[in-house]
Amino acid sequence: MMALKHPKFRVFTVLFCVISITTFLFSYNYRAPSSYFYKLASRLSDNPVSKATCACSRCISAEDEDPWFSERFNQSMSPLMSKKNSMLSADTYKWWQWIQSEKHPANYSDVVRRLFQVIPGEERYMDSGPNRCRTCSVVGNSGNLKGSNYGALIDASDFIIRMNKAPTSGYEKDVGRRTTHHVMYPESAKNLQNTTNLVLIPFKTLDLQWIISALTTGTIKHTYLPVMAKIKANKNKVLIYSPTFFKYIFESWLEGHGRYPSTGFLALMLAIHICDEVNVYGFGADKAGNWHHYWENNLLGGAFRHTGVHDGDYEYNITLLLASKKKIKMFKGR
Ligand SMILES: *[C@@H]1O[C@H](CO)[C@@H](O)[C@H](O)[C@H]1NC(C)=O
Ligand SMILES: *[C@@H]1O[C@H](CO)[C@@H](O)[C@H](O)[C@H]1NC(C)=O
Ligand SMILES: *[C@@H]1O[C@H](CO)[C@@H](O)[C@H](O)[C@H]1NC(C)=O
Ligand SMILES: *[C@@H]1O[C@H](CO)[C@@H](O)[C@H](O)[C@H]1NC(C)=O
Repeated sequence: MMALKHPKFRVFTVLFCVISITTFLFSYNYRAPSSYFYKLASRLSDNPVSKATCACSRCISAEDEDPWFSERFNQSMSPLMSKKNSMLSADTYKWWQWIQSEKHPANYSDVVRRLFQVIPGEERYMDSGPNRCRTCSVVGNSGNLKGSNYGALIDASDFIIRMNKAPTSGYEKDVGRRTTHHVMYPESAKNLQNTTNLVLIPFKTLDLQWIISALTTGTIKHTYLPVMAKIKANKNKVLIYSPTFFKYIFESWLEGHGRYPSTGFLALMLAIHICDEVNVYGFGADKAGNWHHYWENNLLGGAFRHTGVHDGDYEYNITLLLASKKKIKMFKGR
């Protein structure tokens, strides 16, 4: 008790005791009505019985889970490749190599190491919780967006996800002007604004080599088609769709239908896993039943849905089921 003899220490000790006791009393008091947190949680939710899993009025994942949804949905799966999760299991690597059957793939781990010398590779968006409300617009390329006037509604979301060649310039009234994430693969690439995240879907090892090249030396000009040698995009905002997640979508959500999922479906699944509220625009045919892009007049015909590579009907069916279960909201355009 040497310390107590010194007046400074005595004051300190008394203060310490007071603080400890009040802290104890306060935490005891607050803990006692144990329904406090429960009430707070249910206030945030539409359904008074289920606990809210996010801070939006509508959450993708709810505690009172629909069995069809919970059998498929795994929120722990990271949609994006990071330095930490980039290594693939033998099974995943084999499946991923099979989808486009690349003849002489480069050494995957060497390519990934070089990739993360060019782009960041930190874990992103795995922060779901009761305090997060992230709203997302997934904007497909359907002609049903023409004359829809959805622009302002689309732009009001936190994230706006577009895909492939989708332009906004000249179509703002119907499709909006903001893009936070643009999903593409080398053969469907386009230049982006500095503020937009480029989300690359790699279908083969060469696609990872392409993004390294397109952001640096520009040496890769051809895959199975001519591709952009250089791309205008912010290197710090380049994200890579994870092959492990890709396989999970194919198996859990498409149950092996088609050879592999389409860009539209992969973009929708990205949104479902990183957003709390998902609004979907520009999917499906227009009112006349025609399939075409909103920026083109040529009809894509049956080939669009029946390429043999994607099972468009099955994907659309899953999309409609998600809407009927109120996991997403579909805006059908006109
Ligand atoms: C969900 O994903 C995590 C992370 O990949 C995995 O460890 C877990 O086994 C998965 N859960 C189910 C039910 O598949
Ligand atoms: C890829 O390269 C690494 C060294 O960077 C080596 O350990 C590994 O065995 C190689 N893999 C194949 C399939 O050649
Ligand atoms: C793009 O954004 C980065 C920051 O992410 C910044 O360093 C860079 O200067 C910007 N480039 C242009 C052309 O605005
Ligand atoms: C769509 O989904 C429902 C319910 O899972 C199923 O009964 C139906 O056969 C599916 N249709 C197609 C075309 O896959």
